[in-house]
Amino acid sequence: MVHRSRITTLTEFIIQRQSEYPHAKGALTRLLNDIATAAKIVNREINAAGLVDILGTVGKENVQGETQKKLDVFANEMFITALKGGGECCAIASEENEKVISFSNEFSGLGKYVIAMDPLDGSSNIESNVSIGTIFSIYRRVSDAGGGTQEDLLQPGLNLTAAGYIIYGSSTMLVYTTGKGVNGFTLDPSVGIFCLSHPDMHYPEKETIYSINEGNYIYFPEGVKRYIKYCQEIDKETNRPYTSRYIGSLVADFHRNLIKGGIFMYPGTTVQPNGKLRLLYECSPIAFIAEQAGGKASDGYRRITEIDPETLHQRSPFFVGPKNMVEKVEAFMKEYA
Ligand code: AHG
Ligand code: MN
Ligand code: MN
Repeated sequence: MVHRSRITTLTEFIIQRQSEYPHAKGALTRLLNDIATAAKIVNREINAAGLVDILGTVGKENVQGETQKKLDVFANEMFITALKGGGECCAIASEENEKVISFSNEFSGLGKYVIAMDPLDGSSNIESNVSIGTIFSIYRRVSDAGGGTQEDLLQPGLNLTAAGYIIYGSSTMLVYTTGKGVNGFTLDPSVGIFCLSHPDMHYPEKETIYSINEGNYIYFPEGVKRYIKYCQEIDKETNRPYTSRYIGSLVADFHRNLIKGGIFMYPGTTVQPNGKLRLLYECSPIAFIAEQAGGKASDGYRRITEIDPETLHQRSPFFVGPKNMVEKVEAFMKEYA
């Protein structure tokens, strides 16, 4: 319940932070507000999922050859509409669209930012009432004016202006960073306002969890197999054996691990050498947030935020979590390469 005297709303927080950037003109503030607005609409729809006709598939596949759920399509449309009308974003790359969506109208053509997004992450969990999310990346455009281009979007994570996610869970939260720490806001549904609830988020000291789809064990690289066994060994000093937790929604798995101290892994496999997750709108933004929270993200060998994307929907193996844990799995990968 919001008690005015004690809370900081998302809007207040963004505006306070903006004063740290003397040349800022409020564009990023408006952009984040547009994202928050779309998130609230998507949240409303998710909450009513069993009541209204929004569950199930639309009978189509997206660019990745994955079946699109109605909520995938709805969330995609909501975020595109909010950003298109906002005037600050000149292009969007989305999991649900093969090509860059470029805005060249009189407002958005002047927008300084582009956005890459996974509008609905964890869609296999929609029907079963399990947490799902949205992931977004905000880059400054590199082109001059007019509609944004693919080149504006193909930037490494290190160039990110901001990144964040929304988790539609037992409560709805928006977590974001502009490269100066990570802050989390919980939606107070009674008034529809995101309120600062998790200031300056950091991985805890204690390592407790490993998260991986162990059903794919047979297809994993030897280094990952060895690391899983390492996680299961007894060792008081390092708090092992770790607990195994896997939801199947990257946002939810990452969020829990950030709060409780754990590593999330989606490695390359013998059937999918680059794994499943998409660099631009899943790995890079989550990696940027993890680094800001004192953690690390790697493809097993390279820092995720240093990878130059070549295509919009390229995939990457992904290991993200507390520094020590990610470095340990990297060491196993190297040893058993
Ligand atoms: P999306 O719903 O956006 O396609 O993403 C699903 C992703 C990610 O959220 C999750 O970590 C992973 O798929 C789970 O994959 P598996 O079912 O192969 O474990
Ligand atoms: Mn996803
Ligand atoms: Mn998705």
